[in-house]
Amino acid sequence: MSTFRLQGGRPLTGTLAIAGRKNAALPLIAASVLNRGTTTLLNLPEIDDVAVMLDILEKLGAKIEKGAHQVIINTVDITPAGAVIPEDDGRRLRGSLLFLGPLLARFGHARLPHPGGCIIGKRPVGVHFDAVEAMGATITTEGDWYEVAADQLTGTTFFLPEASVTGTENALMAAAGGTQPITLVNVAREDHVIQLGQYLVQLGCRLDGLGTSSITVRGFGRSLPAEDITVEIIPDEIELGTFIIAAAVTDGELELTNLGDERLTLPIRSLMKGLGVNIEDYPAQKRLIIKPPHHFKAGTIKTGIWPGTPTDLQSPLALLATQTEGNTLIHDWMFEGRFSYVGGLSKMGADILICDPHRILVRGKTPLKGTKLVSPDLRAGMAQLIAGLAASGESVIEHGEVIERGYERLVERLSSIGAQIEEIS
Ligand code: EPU
Repeated sequence: MSTFRLQGGRPLTGTLAIAGRKNAALPLIAASVLNRGTTTLLNLPEIDDVAVMLDILEKLGAKIEKGAHQVIINTVDITPAGAVIPEDDGRRLRGSLLFLGPLLARFGHARLPHPGGCIIGKRPVGVHFDAVEAMGATITTEGDWYEVAADQLTGTTFFLPEASVTGTENALMAAAGGTQPITLVNVAREDHVIQLGQYLVQLGCRLDGLGTSSITVRGFGRSLPAEDITVEIIPDEIELGTFIIAAAVTDGELELTNLGDERLTLPIRSLMKGLGVNIEDYPAQKRLIIKPPHHFKAGTIKTGIWPGTPTDLQSPLALLATQTEGNTLIHDWMFEGRFSYVGGLSKMGADILICDPHRILVRGKTPLKGTKLVSPDLRAGMAQLIAGLAASGESVIEHGEVIERGYERLVERLSSIGAQIEEIS
């Protein structure tokens, strides 16, 4: 358990490097099961979710060599008996479900506990299993455990009822273990899905349509490749959006670097500019600067699948709305439990009406006062923490370990840009 104490009201100023993307790192770690060679991941975020995924791999029998922001993974020694995800680790994060596809592809079977992760709504897992069932696998459930098995994966066309991100990733990795064409329709198109697809291509899969809503996979079957592959993980666009908002609401002048290719951050930069945040872009140097004056705009914010407004940025956006003159309606249709921060922000002085499980109305602008808060989940916890930095006086944030699942070295990095923050337990 971590508890943070912070003194708000100080502008965030200086330079901060954006970390590698959590939701790109997790599927790549799982996908390394498909490679008998080495998988080197660079720009790896040093966060708890990554540590748990690597722990799982190690327990399955993989060799892991960790360095600063990088890891070399060799899964050659994983045996068929190792295709079982340890219960405690599996329940720690949703990402553990990502081992389903690669273990099935490599060994023809896998056993996994129902995954854990942030409690942000129902978060069904049906599509993950329906996809592999369509490829010929049988699914057995026993209490909270799933067992999947297939002598061989067969060609099929599978329609995802919703463009689930990890559902798409699992289906792609499973399909790598087939030899006949497997077409996935209505797939997610996030850049991290594309990065996973590119890794599979480097392994020898043929992927037609990567980056579109329909992908056909021609896999390598059970003859696993042995390639030495290095992947530089793309920047975390949620961290980028979160720090842009943090700079804006604290009235700081903040330079954010390590942004990667301009195209990767275009949706977030456009979103933030549209909301009136003043951003100077320096794409050639992969950096940007946020600085006053800002002209925050009220209106309607609706989450969407890529390249729409990410649901993972919804809570910091609500914080921005508290510092914006006028009414902002926030509509997050994707998950029904993502307003858990509203109580905390209201306690600090925000005026927020919960309309229903998917919509809130934020009436701004309201000054915020520091208080004691508990982190309900990763993104909600981070929004409350930034609110504490923007508020007057002291805030204490309990259960900070929930935030550390997705944001690395928070105290050190925030202190380096002028935040007065310490970990007190
Ligand atoms: N859905 C179904 N059936 C399923 C699975 C999903 O109907 O079997 C629906 C969900 O109810 C939701 C929609 O599909 O309405 C999208 O959910 P999705 O499956 O895409 O979410 P996910 O893959 O479990 C990933 C990220 C989340 C992020 C969502 C949406 C990872 C490890 N997690 O989750 O990230 O919110 O995509 O972009 O990639 C976070 O980082 O804090 C986080 C929660």
